[in-house]
Amino acid sequence: MGNRFDFKGRTVVVIGGTSGINRGIALAFARAGAQVAVASRSQDKVDDTVTELARAGAAQAMGLAFDVRQAQAVADGLAAFHSEMGDFDVLVSGAAGNFPALMAEMSVNAFRTVVEIDLMGTVHVMKGAYPFLRRPGASIISVSAPQAFLPYEGQAHVCAAKAGVDMITRTLALEWAPEGIRINSVVPGYIADTEGARRLAPTEQALDMVQRTIPQGRLGAVGDVAGLCLFLASDLAGYVNGQVISADGGLYQRGSGQLGQMIGNALRAGKG
Ligand code: COA
Ligand code: NAP
Repeated sequence: MGNRFDFKGRTVVVIGGTSGINRGIALAFARAGAQVAVASRSQDKVDDTVTELARAGAAQAMGLAFDVRQAQAVADGLAAFHSEMGDFDVLVSGAAGNFPALMAEMSVNAFRTVVEIDLMGTVHVMKGAYPFLRRPGASIISVSAPQAFLPYEGQAHVCAAKAGVDMITRTLALEWAPEGIRINSVVPGYIADTEGARRLAPTEQALDMVQRTIPQGRLGAVGDVAGLCLFLASDLAGYVNGQVISADGGLYQRGSGQLGQMIGNALRAGKG
């Protein structure tokens, strides 16, 4: 996947890049020869990913453990990446948390937790990285979700947070374009073998229903999202700015379909 693009000499930072989709994105940039930095809360996941990045062909690989809810820790971590690797050509902001819960039943703190990770985490990453973005030329990618534009039962917290993420994308596309910085959101489809997918469709039956709903007839792969990110970060996408783009096999053209309703029914039945 990565070898169709050449990112040699480029610095790529992936926040939340130590598992699932985001790790796949980081590895794709490593295969394309970039120097890649990743961060998440778990030092073990960071260490494992750094090893894999080097093995995949990254010109340089590094990682740090921090929580995106801590503004100063994010700013300090990004400064450390900058002092090792120089200006950021690509910044991917993808840290997120999710669990299914009905609004009437989740605590205020549960709702706040997802907003703090997904939305405030994005704010901390954008503000922390701003001084270190290459001008002109930086490409920022926020990893969003269909909850940003489609309502799903049991997902009010994620819907609110990811809608905010996409509005940050669209606003910064205006504010930062004069400095030569582009920003877009990518929206993964239903990606096989990922934590996010497992949390929303935890049973064989739910997974089967989702798969049958996807117009292209298969679940997504991590590489499907990584490919879109490589394109958006490349010079080929030099005039693409402020967009929210899905790699979903056409799934979201159907709206939230039966999945949202199934999550709601499962929670109401006490099986969520
Ligand atoms: N249903 C309802 N509330 C839940 C919940 C669930 N399944 N899971 C957590 N919560 C609530 C907790 O009860 C707590 O609220 P309280 O203080 O009122 O009791 C609040 O959410 C915070 O939970 P906590 O476990 O302290 O948060 P954390 O900071 O340790 O972890 C999460 C954050 C909850 C988002 C955790 O699931 C996580 O780390 N997720 C990352 C991986 C992930 O979600 N991947 C998918 C990405 S799409
Ligand atoms: P995942 O494997 O759980 O990845 C989440 C990443 O974020 C991990 O590296 C995690 O590492 C990190 N993270 C979580 N909370 C953090 C925090 N507070 N501070 C710092 N890092 C944190 O999930 P995934 O399913 O691949 O999802 C990745 C992204 O894709 C998310 O933005 C999600 O909303 C989006 N998405 C996924 C799907 C899907 O099908 N899976 C569909 C649509 C959108 P630590 O645990 O070490 O912190």
